[in-house]
Amino acid sequence: MQVVKPGKILINNEWCESQSGKRFDVINPATELKLTDVAEGDAADIARAVKAARQAFESGPWKTMSARERGRILNRVALLLDKHKEEIAELETLNNGKPIHETRNADLPLSIETFEYYGGLADKIHGDTIPVNGNFFNYTLREPAGVVGQIIPWNFPLLMAAWKLGPALATGCTVVLKPAEQTPLTALRLGEILLEAGLPAGVVNIVPGFGPTAGAALVTHPEVDKIAFTGSTEVGKTVMQLASSHLKRVSLELGGKAPNIVFADSDIDAAVNGAMRGIFFNQGEVCCAGSRLFLEERIHDEFLSKLKTRVEKMVVGNPLDPQTQMGAQVSEEQFRKILGYVEKGKKEGAKVVTGGSPAQATGYFVKPTILEGVNNEMTVAREEIFGPVVCAIPFKNHDHLVHQANDTVYGLSAGIWTRDIGKAHRLAKEIKAGTIWVNCYNCFDAASPFGGFKQSGFGRELGKYALELYTQVKSVWVSLD
Ligand code: NAI
Ligand code: MG
Repeated sequence: MQVVKPGKILINNEWCESQSGKRFDVINPATELKLTDVAEGDAADIARAVKAARQAFESGPWKTMSARERGRILNRVALLLDKHKEEIAELETLNNGKPIHETRNADLPLSIETFEYYGGLADKIHGDTIPVNGNFFNYTLREPAGVVGQIIPWNFPLLMAAWKLGPALATGCTVVLKPAEQTPLTALRLGEILLEAGLPAGVVNIVPGFGPTAGAALVTHPEVDKIAFTGSTEVGKTVMQLASSHLKRVSLELGGKAPNIVFADSDIDAAVNGAMRGIFFNQGEVCCAGSRLFLEERIHDEFLSKLKTRVEKMVVGNPLDPQTQMGAQVSEEQFRKILGYVEKGKKEGAKVVTGGSPAQATGYFVKPTILEGVNNEMTVAREEIFGPVVCAIPFKNHDHLVHQANDTVYGLSAGIWTRDIGKAHRLAKEIKAGTIWVNCYNCFDAASPFGGFKQSGFGRELGKYALELYTQVKSVWVSLD
């Protein structure tokens, strides 16, 4: 396929090999076959990339360019992504294993929208004038944070790049982006588009490579002012520690174990749809997946039987087939991890309602899986499985529910299904999570903030909130005497 070409490192608007000359293989998880290989960046390449980003930040066209012109470039990126959306959707599906139906209808449109949103926002970022005591004129400037290191995961490779680059570029930062080692291809394709859109040299540098080498080098580099990380809570903690050596600013978007709560008074069929969308979207490789399905006791059996019927009709298989509803897990490691959790769940007393095994002989496909008889103390209810495995947990009443829903180290999102509007709003306040979906699930918009409570991280991406991550405020005093 023409789109799968050998990948290189992007530094200072030039494509180059790694200093070490090393390359690593990129696998198609649906076939287990090699797609291509990509230059493997490490500390030496990160150092060159950071140098280019620093130079672009301190001098040159990016610094002197008006905010409106920065916005125009972002809008051109959106237009070019739109122009090539079919090709890029296919590339994402080949590399990640997610169904083409989703890359076409979610990953691509949301990525385009993110660049459009920040293209429009670039010239609306400003400070305040403040009525201070005395004969002074006081105002604030919102200045870019500087050189930003961005480390992204493999579950939404292009979209995570868009969430990171959009606000960073709108505010005038320069960037070194490290895509996940499993899925570097669409980030590199985006690099080509950034060049075509006219982004000045050094503003975005893209270094594919592994976490402990390229990733850690980025986090510890003294010339990087801020780190934005999305990935596991475990690595998030390491990133925060490493970043403390130079007191870099850090924002973290980490794991989740979201409660998706169904009350007896909900529209049950809509809630069944919502439960499916909550856990099977993107093969469950979603940080905000509705992995703990809380069912009010008196509808528990009816709900699970409806869910089982629907789940067993799901089309799992070739991600490039437009009919496919669930594709392959991203890697053998994730595939094994998910099946390991199912075994652990069984050992601890959970029962498999459906699924729980590989869906095909070749490729990392896992059947959509429902576990019942789960209680909130079991490993499958406490740890992020990051796969198509939903744990059904019955609840008796409001207090029993709220206690369990919040009894997790995570706090990224939650779903609430009820026709009682008062109850929905009360619960929306009581659940400790960054996003609450009422009678819906996994809804996203570039304008609406996203981020975690507790060990799901801190900082809010998207919307105007993301500007906080990439700007710093300066207070200027002018004597009027
Ligand atoms: P990970 O957290 O190791 O990888 C995410 C990114 O961090 C990748 O770009 C990786 O190269 C980088 N990284 C890894 N170690 C690093 C280090 N020491 N310094 C700097 N960067 C580093 O995630 P992994 O191992 O791929 O997946 C493990 C689990 O993490 C998954 O099963 C899932 O539970 C969770 N996860 C959560 C995500 C989310 O969106 N919240 C995304 C990906 C994984
Ligand atoms: Mg890891």
